[in-house]
This record gives sequence, C-alpha cells and structure tokens, in this order.
Amino acid sequence: MLRNFAKVVQIQKAKFAAAAAPAPQPQTSPEILYTGLFINNEWVKSSDGKTFPTENPATEKIIAEVQQASKADVDKAVKAAKDAFRFGSPWRRMDASERGYLLNKLADLVDRDKVYLASLETLDNGKPYLASYYGDVTALSKNLRYYAGWADKNHGMVLPTDGNYFAYTRHEPVGVCGQIIPWNFPLLMAGWKLGPALATGNTVILKPAEQTPLTALYLAQLTKEAGFPPGVVNVLPGFGDTGAAIVDHPDVDKIAFTGSTEVGKAIQRGVADSIKRLTLELGGKSPNIVFADADLDYAVEKAHMAVFYNMGQCCCAGSRTFVEDSIYDKFVEMSVERAKRRVVGDPFAADTEQGPQVDGEQRAQVLRLIESGKRQGARLVAGGERAGHVGYFVQPTVFCDVRDHMDIARREIFGPVQQIMKFSQIDELLERANDTHYGLAAALFTGDLDKANYLIQGLRAGTVWVNDYNVFGNQVPFGGYKQSGIGRENGPYGIHNYTEVKSVIVKITEKNS
Ligand code: NAI
Ligand code: MG
Repeated sequence: MLRNFAKVVQIQKAKFAAAAAPAPQPQTSPEILYTGLFINNEWVKSSDGKTFPTENPATEKIIAEVQQASKADVDKAVKAAKDAFRFGSPWRRMDASERGYLLNKLADLVDRDKVYLASLETLDNGKPYLASYYGDVTALSKNLRYYAGWADKNHGMVLPTDGNYFAYTRHEPVGVCGQIIPWNFPLLMAGWKLGPALATGNTVILKPAEQTPLTALYLAQLTKEAGFPPGVVNVLPGFGDTGAAIVDHPDVDKIAFTGSTEVGKAIQRGVADSIKRLTLELGGKSPNIVFADADLDYAVEKAHMAVFYNMGQCCCAGSRTFVEDSIYDKFVEMSVERAKRRVVGDPFAADTEQGPQVDGEQRAQVLRLIESGKRQGARLVAGGERAGHVGYFVQPTVFCDVRDHMDIARREIFGPVQQIMKFSQIDELLERANDTHYGLAAALFTGDLDKANYLIQGLRAGTVWVNDYNVFGNQVPFGGYKQSGIGRENGPYGIHNYTEVKSVIVKITEKNS
C-alpha cells in the first residue's frame, strides 16, 4: 500500500522535469504538406471540388483548406480498400511478420518526425506542445510498436474433437474497416485505430474529425513511405456526412468510432441493417473519489489534472470530484488555489498548461454549461468566463456545492470545469457514483485497502484507477460500460475487434493400405 504520497509527488515531479528538460523546440509554423484525400496511396482532390477550412484555435486563423470527401469519394476509397483486401492480394498474402515490420517502420517514421508531428498537432488542435510531444506522439509510436508485436501472434487453436476429425480455428481479418475519430487526441486516436486493424490484416478507411484533419493526413503519407501496399490505408477528411457515408456503405465490414454518445447511437442504428461489426468509445462523466485519509496535496493535484488535462477534452475526465465531508472545505480551497495558478495561454510556450478549446462551438457549449451550473445553484469559486480576446480559451473553472441532479453533474462538459461534491457514507457514495448512464472510468484516492477493494468491485466503469488518474498502457484495455461504449481498445482485447474466428473441421478419411 502506498503510504508516503508526498514522496510519490516529488518523484513524479522529478521524473517530469527530467523528461521535460531535453524537449526539442517546436516548429511554430510547421509547413502543411498534405490537405488532400488519401486513396490507394495517392493524393487526390474531392470529386465535387468541395474543401473546408481548418483553423488554429489559439489564434482563430485559418491554417489550411482541406479537401472534403463526398459520397463518391467514399465509394472510391472503399473500392480501393476492398481491392487491397481481395483474396490473393499482396496484402492478404503477406507474411504476418511482415505486417509487424511495416508497423514498426511506421513507428520509426513517427519518431523521426516527432517534432514536426507534435508541432502540427498543437497548431491544429491547440493542445500544449509539450503534451503533444510527450503525450500524444510518444504514445502513438509506442502503440504502433505494441501492435506490430501482435501481427504474427494472433493465431487460432487446434481443438481436440472426435478422432475422425481435425478441428482448428483461424483468426482472420474482418475486412474493410471504417474508422471515425474525434479531435481531442487526433494522432493518438488514429494510432489506436490503425494499429490493431493493420496488425491483423484488415484494410482501412479512416475519417479524421473536421476540426483536426492535418496530422492524420501526414500519418497517411508515412504509411505509404513505410511501404503499406496501395488501398490498405485510406484517409478521408470530412464532416459527419462523410462519416455517415462510410457507416452506410455496404462493402464496409466493420465500424470503429470514438466520439459523442449521440453520434455513437446514430451509428449503431446505421449498422443495424447490415450487421456490420461495431466498436464504440463514447463519452463519460467519471467519478473521482477522494477519502479523508488521502494525502491532500497529492489528491488535489491529481484531481485537478483528472479534469483539466487536455483542456478538459478527455472522454475519461474525472469530472465529478467526490470528496469526503471532513476534508471537503479544505479540498475546495486548495483546488481553487490550484486552478487559479493554472497557466493558460500560447500552446507553443513551454510553461503553458492549458491551450484553447478546439473550436468556437466547443467553447460555447462549455460556457453554456457553466451558466447552467450558476443558474441551478452550484457555487462558482474559480473562473467561469472565457479567457483572452482571441482564441477559444476558457478560464480554469471550479464549482463546489454541486448537487447530483444538476446538468454540470450529469452532462459531459468537455471543458476545464471541475465539479466538487461532498460525500459522507460509502454505500451512498457508490450509488451516487454509479448513478449515470456513462461508465468509462472512475478513480479513488485512499490508503485503506478495504475501502479501495470494496469500491473497485462496486464501481461500474471500464477502468478504475487507484491513487492516480489518466494512467494508460498499450497493454491495458480501455473502453466503457453502459453508454460509454461497446468493446475495448488496447491490449489483446483490441485485436479481437478486428478478428473473425473461422472454425475448420476436416474429416479424416481412413486409407486402407
Ligand atoms: P462527434 O461525435 O460529432 O464527432 C466525432 C467524429 O464523428 C467526427 O469525426 C465527426 O465528423 C464524426 N461524425 C459526426 N456525425 C457523424 C455521423 N452521423 N456519422 C458518422 N460520423 C459522424 O463529436 P463533436 O460534435 O465533435 O463533439 C460533441 C461532443 O461529443 C463533445 O462536446 C464531447 O462531449 C463529445 N466528444 C467525446 C469524445 C470522446 O473522446 N469520447 C471526443 C469528441 C467529442
Ligand atoms: Mg458533432
């Protein structure tokens, strides 16, 4: 059991300082090289000539015009992916180890271009450069390497049956996979989708979010450079209608989606007729529970990061902070002090902790929910307004005296807004923590093993962190209970989503000699 939390904080700070020290300087105006549709390893324009702008959310300036894929372009990309998946194609005949080699090569190229990719991500998304560099791009490379290792290990079984038969299973790719991703971790989500799909021999149509198409397009070029055959990876920038055309396409075998619960439901309805395979990673309203015995400094800092990391734009954000009554007032006071210290500003500056929200629409939604919190009687104790005059910045905001029925305690805010609630009794707490249609993540801070184990088992969530938050591993599955999704990404579970199991039963005919 962890006892000396202060020491743990110190060690973590030292580790971060050591890691942060050699951070290469960002490219504050990275050249934008690819804005087209990537189909069959070629860059093409949209068939109807439509483009859309993508902007830098820190300056509100348009940084590029990107080709917008139409339904005809989706047809073209699906045809390329289907051809690449044809039985007997180079991709289907490829040695499984070779697929792993290509994924490792892709990871090498990501590492080679790490500064550029992290800079481009910061420009298009607004997240602090250090987070892009040490968080997103580093995790992307590791994830690709993890799945590279699986490429030649996803095998079936020989099954003991009646001695007149030889029975075994084959793990085969599902086919053409439509992958639709959001804007909060654009590169990383592209990697989480591509890694397991390519390791298992599928072909892909990836649709990045309209707010952040640029890094996925650059990654597409890297897949070509790595040597993936034409048609294996296709990337189509566009809006929801492009996504819907992929979902509706009869030749797409599987959909993997990360985004809002609302669109996830629409997609689930969309695949009902064709019975496409479906995995969904949706929203959350995750409880983060702090007991009175926790180290206060440590828990305040972790609870802060649980909400505010990535400008609060995390599906697993710890956006309901439950604090035991005896430390509640002190915890609120310290959380307010921490939020007020949070450095908001230019995402390329080394000391910036918080950049802008991804776009004006997201900022408007966050501000609307802050207003609803005030109206419904929560006490605003920090922030509450937009920050600055240019860029979609929001002040780090803290509400206390939050009641369970309030919109800010029930709806996904997806912004830098912390809700601190009080609890006194563990069973009542458990019921309140689970009283949500979401079930993505949960965390608890305590040194009491009994309380921890009781809650670990009682919490209805896909991930439970104990004495930490936002800890991920490529080996560790991630996904949601209830309306937070279907299926798990990462680890061996991520492989299963992209695998069909074929049972083979061969009659053994006796030969009379
Ligand atoms: P969204 O769910 O609309 O967008 C995610 C992706 O789905 C984008 O690529 C988008 O173009 C695509 N899409 C939209 N409509 C589609 C449709 N009908 N068929 C197929 N694809 C479609 O999310 P949005 O509007 O950007 O954000 C709204 C809220 O969703 C956020 O405020 C947040 O609460 C939540 N969200 C959750 C995320 C998560 O990681 N779980 C990520 C992004 C948003
Ligand atoms: Mg939307």
